[in-house]
Amino acid sequence: MPTNAIAPSHSAPAAAAVAASPAAAAAARPWRVGLIGFGCVGQGLHDILARHPASGFVISRIVVKSPTKLRPLPASRFEFDATALLADDSLDVLVEVIDDAAAAFTFVAAALRRGRRVVTANKAMLARHLPELVALQRAHGSTLLYEAAVCGSIPVVRTLDAYFGAEPLRRLTGILNGSSNYVLTRMGNSGTDYAPALAQAQQLGFAETDPSLDMGAFDPRAKAVLLAAHAYGVFLDPEQVLNLGIEGIAATDIAFAASRGQKIKVVAGLQRLPDGRVTALVTPQLVGSGSPLFGVDEEFNGVVIEADFAGEQFLRGRGAGGHPTGSAVLADLAALRQGFAYQYAKTAAPPTHATDLEIEIYLRTAEPRLIDLLDFSEVSEEADEDGYVVGYVALAHLITHRDLLREYGAFIVRTGQLRPVGEAAEATEAAEAALETAGRGW
Ligand SMILES: NC(=O)c1ccc[n+]([C@@H]2O[C@H](COP(=O)([O-])OP(=O)(O)OC[C@H]3O[C@@H](n4cnc5c(N)ncnc54)[C@H](OP(=O)(O)O)[C@@H]3O)[C@@H](O)[C@H]2O)c1
Repeated sequence: MPTNAIAPSHSAPAAAAVAASPAAAAAARPWRVGLIGFGCVGQGLHDILARHPASGFVISRIVVKSPTKLRPLPASRFEFDATALLADDSLDVLVEVIDDAAAAFTFVAAALRRGRRVVTANKAMLARHLPELVALQRAHGSTLLYEAAVCGSIPVVRTLDAYFGAEPLRRLTGILNGSSNYVLTRMGNSGTDYAPALAQAQQLGFAETDPSLDMGAFDPRAKAVLLAAHAYGVFLDPEQVLNLGIEGIAATDIAFAASRGQKIKVVAGLQRLPDGRVTALVTPQLVGSGSPLFGVDEEFNGVVIEADFAGEQFLRGRGAGGHPTGSAVLADLAALRQGFAYQYAKTAAPPTHATDLEIEIYLRTAEPRLIDLLDFSEVSEEADEDGYVVGYVALAHLITHRDLLREYGAFIVRTGQLRPVGEAAEATEAAEAALETAGRGW
């Protein structure tokens, strides 16, 4: 025996008994993984398992789409029909990491109907179908984990589900999209304009060739929907969640934030309101140096969790890329092996989703009709020469007109708090002060 080997602590007869048990034998052997998708995430996982053979997982079958693509592994390793994996009972777990949300849903739903264990990274698919996928797991005793779908390597889904499953949360704020964060960092630090900053992000592989999902805040909206299910027990329709992106941003907006000592970040904000309802939105937002998100730059992600009893916690890490995302898939595989499943504990008594709120924004537009359309209930600042206005608008108006705002190149930043529709400024400040004192700020 090598000098650093640990001697078995059990006696020989006991060891023989364990070896005889099929369950124990299955527990001892590596788990066989069926991998669907061999792009950035699939190759990341493959590389991690190749470098870490003691992980307890081996990729047994790999399915991809294109039979003609050049691959870094021999052609004999690949097959092209994902459904063939569903019926292969020798596979302990299926990992779905393809870039086609519709095909991913068909496959994952079929696997869950067959009682399989599945890991996915597909946030767009999950955000659209989560209630159905949870119901399938409950009906068929299957398990679906998806840590990689939200903030890549940051263990936020399991933290919310398992650790904070019993504790009420006040607020969750996060930078959930590395591509837009990279663009904003370049614009803020180097004075780069939006188009070259985006081109840089694309060159470095941080942004897709079609950047609209990231820059239009559709990607962080899908992640916010997933976080809402675990943090508050509420299944949101992505369409109900306001998403405003940064496609219309210009140097003048960065200067506006800097003049206040703040940065612009795309922030997902989920919070419990004083009346117990929950709201969720993803918008560019002014972030001051007092926030942990102020220092989350470049392609990094960060999440601040404010819990009723634990107080504030902050998680920061890499939100994308083969290894960080592959690391999250590996963590899910290990969790499955230990029998872990999401509990969705808070879905037993879900709160109502609130959109009848007003929000303070900065709007810059060359199209005055947009200002009329948004029907500001209160204006605190207006600069004709820079074409911007700051004031309160109804969240519902922003949701209704978000496509038009995008079409006309308007740029919006959240500058302040939420308040009930029609509430006067002084009353809001008094209510905020009272609620902050009570630890329940808006
Ligand atoms: N990239 C990231 O950093 C990251 C981070 C978090 C989450 N995600 C999510 O992870 C998933 C995968 O992303 P990715 O960046 O790895 O994508 P990708 O690099 O574009 O690779 C996609 C892979 O899926 C395969 N594929 C597509 N349709 C298929 C089908 N119908 N059947 C079998 N294989 C199919 C492709 O096959 P071919 O090779 O033949 O084209 C390719 O291997 C997406 O849902 C994405 O949103 C990605």
